Amino acid sequence: MIRFEEVNFAYGARSVLRSVSLSVDFPERVAVLGGSGEGKTTILKLVLGLIRPDSGSIIVDGDDISHKSEGELRETRMKFSIVFQEGALFDSLDVKENVAFCLREYTEMSEDEIDARVRHILSSVGVEQALELMPEELSGGMHRRVSIARSLALDTPRMFLYDEPTTGLDPINADNICRLIAELSKEGKGFIMVTHKVSDALKVADRFIFLRDGSLLFDGNRHELLHADHPDIKLFINELCIQDPSGL
Ligand SMILES: Nc1ncnc2c1ncn2[C@@H]1O[C@H](COP(=O)(O)OP(=O)(O)O)[C@@H](O)[C@H]1O
Ligand SMILES: [Mg+2]
Repeated sequence: MIRFEEVNFAYGARSVLRSVSLSVDFPERVAVLGGSGEGKTTILKLVLGLIRPDSGSIIVDGDDISHKSEGELRETRMKFSIVFQEGALFDSLDVKENVAFCLREYTEMSEDEIDARVRHILSSVGVEQALELMPEELSGGMHRRVSIARSLALDTPRMFLYDEPTTGLDPINADNICRLIAELSKEGKGFIMVTHKVSDALKVADRFIFLRDGSLLFDGNRHELLHADHPDIKLFINELCIQDPSGL
C-alpha cells in the first residue's frame, strides 16, 4: 500500500501539494486526473522518493520513505515499474539494448538469458519486430510500447506507474496502449496512471482522483465520477469530452 499523510510539497515558492492524504493499495487501478501543472507528475516522483515532501509522510509497503537514503530507496523503487511521460529511450541504443539495459545493470543474467527475456517482453507488448530498430525509427505508438517493455524488464514490480501514457498518440495508438495497460494490470498488479485525458482514464481505471489547487477535489469510482455534482468536475469532464469525444 502507498499512503500519503498530510503531504506538503513546494518547488521553491511554488506550492504544489497542500496537506494531501491518500491511500492506494497495490492492486488498485487508479487514475490521477487534473489539468496541466496541478501536480500529477509530482505525486509519482514523491512515491519513488525522487523528491521529498516538505512535511508529512509517504509510506510505501509499511516503510516511511520520506527520509530514506538513496541506497534504501532503491528497494522501494524496485516495487514499481515506471513509464515516465518523457519515456525517453536511449537514442544511441537499439530497442534490444534499451530493454536489456536494466537486466545488464541489475542482474547477472547471461547473454542468452537476456536475449530470451528481451524477446519475450517485446512480444508481450506486441513489438517483437522492432528488436533491432533504433528509437528514431519507431512510430509514436511503438515508442511508447518499447518504453513500457523496458519498464517491465525486471519483472519485480508490485504496481505500475504511468505518466501520461497516451498523451501525444493518435486515438488508435492511445486505445492500444490503454488495452496494454489493462492487460498488464491483470494478476493483481495495479497501477497509478497520471493523465489529463479523462476518456483514456475511463477505459482502464476503477478509481479516479482529481487534483486541483494542491488538493484532492474528488476521489471516487466511475459511477461517482460520471455523476459528480461538483461543478468544476462536471466542467472538466465536459470540456475533455468535447476535446476528445472518442473515449466516451
Ligand atoms: N523541477 C521543477 N522546478 C520548479 N517547478 C516545477 C518543477 N517541476 C514542476 N514544477 C512546477 O510544479 C507544478 C506541478 O508540476 P507537475 O507535477 O509536473 O504537474 P502536472 O504533471 O500535473 O502537469 C507546475 O506548476 C510546474 O511548473
Ligand atoms: Mg506531468
